Amino acid sequence: MAVILDNATVATMDDSVEAGGYGLIPRGAVVIEGDRILWAGPEALLPDSSLPHHDMGGRLITPALIDCHTHIVFAGDRAREFEMRLQGASYEEVARAGGGILSTVTATRAATEDDLFAQSLPRLDAILAGGAATVEIKSGYGIDIETELRMLRVARRLGQARDVTVTTTFLGAHAIPPDYRGRADAYLTEQAIPALRAAHAQGLVDAVDAFCEGIAFTPVQVARVFSEAQALGLPAKLHAEQLSNLGGAALAARHGALSADHLEYLDVDGVQAMAAAGTVAVILPGAFYTLRETQAPPIARLRAAGVPMAVATDCNPGSSPLTSLTLAMNMACTLFRLTPAEALLGTTAHAARALGLTDRGRIAPGMRADLAVWDATHPAELSYRIGSTALHHRIVGGRIDT
Ligand code: NIG
Ligand code: FE
Repeated sequence: MAVILDNATVATMDDSVEAGGYGLIPRGAVVIEGDRILWAGPEALLPDSSLPHHDMGGRLITPALIDCHTHIVFAGDRAREFEMRLQGASYEEVARAGGGILSTVTATRAATEDDLFAQSLPRLDAILAGGAATVEIKSGYGIDIETELRMLRVARRLGQARDVTVTTTFLGAHAIPPDYRGRADAYLTEQAIPALRAAHAQGLVDAVDAFCEGIAFTPVQVARVFSEAQALGLPAKLHAEQLSNLGGAALAARHGALSADHLEYLDVDGVQAMAAAGTVAVILPGAFYTLRETQAPPIARLRAAGVPMAVATDCNPGSSPLTSLTLAMNMACTLFRLTPAEALLGTTAHAARALGLTDRGRIAPGMRADLAVWDATHPAELSYRIGSTALHHRIVGGRIDT
């Protein structure tokens, strides 16, 4: 049975937003049936006003938010490393000294599946409490076959435990384990690629990512991982140009990647390659902020080239212990000069595209009825607030008040 959500301001994020708006409908209504949107438009034009109504109390309705880049499945924390960095150690120094990602690997390998689930669930809950209904989760803190599979099983379980769509990304090429030091290719051959094949065979993988960086994998090694992904029919993503420029974004674009993420050191060639391939630029201001990075991603160039920009939390224990997408939007505006409309597009329509999802991220007929209802009158308010959320409630798959 269809229902009307009325007495609302509706930010559809429809195609007109590419021209700088929110697709805003001031006295708007949305009609949903089952898990789909049937209609959205001005209240005065409702096709059938005899249907049951839910009064939204004049609130703002947007597409439910999408966090398209997280690492929320992990054990332990890295607060000590935060202290070390504040005393002057760099992220790379901590990593080369065996801390950083490898210290989370040790904690994650030691955790049982139930323990990992219990430690990760509050992070998922925090992201959902900020208005999200789709969350991408990466592996990459196991970096052995058994633990990578365990992380991905936990990610799938998280998706069943809450009203959310979880998409999983295999990130076996995240760090080189200590016993493979100096032998990254052997690690890929003996652990990462077999783990990817096994995880894919068990239905645990939706996309494949890698960390292309001096402290991680070279472009040639990343290309090996991408070839394997391609052979399995899985889309690619890449942590690229976060700490230095290795041409990772152009490599990702050449492989038809859904997204290249971070991008602080992206150059003009990388921007052009992404534009030509339609690869989404996923901007992660939480990591920029936490690492006290000073070089911002080339937002003006990306904008001029028409590269779609997404914004995500990058929630992880090292570079971005952030569980608020609206705070990520605020940082994207204040630190990187995205407009609030670009920031919201970055956590809705463009985030969907970064995950290869075509059924969400905008309010339009046929799209999933994943909506966020906010105690706000204008969508700029979502990017404007710091440290509080205006979320009133979510509607997920057409279920009201989840
Ligand atoms: O997205 N850059 C690599 N991976 C994560 C950080 C992981 C960690 O430090 O635990 C990132 O920033
Ligand atoms: Fe990341």
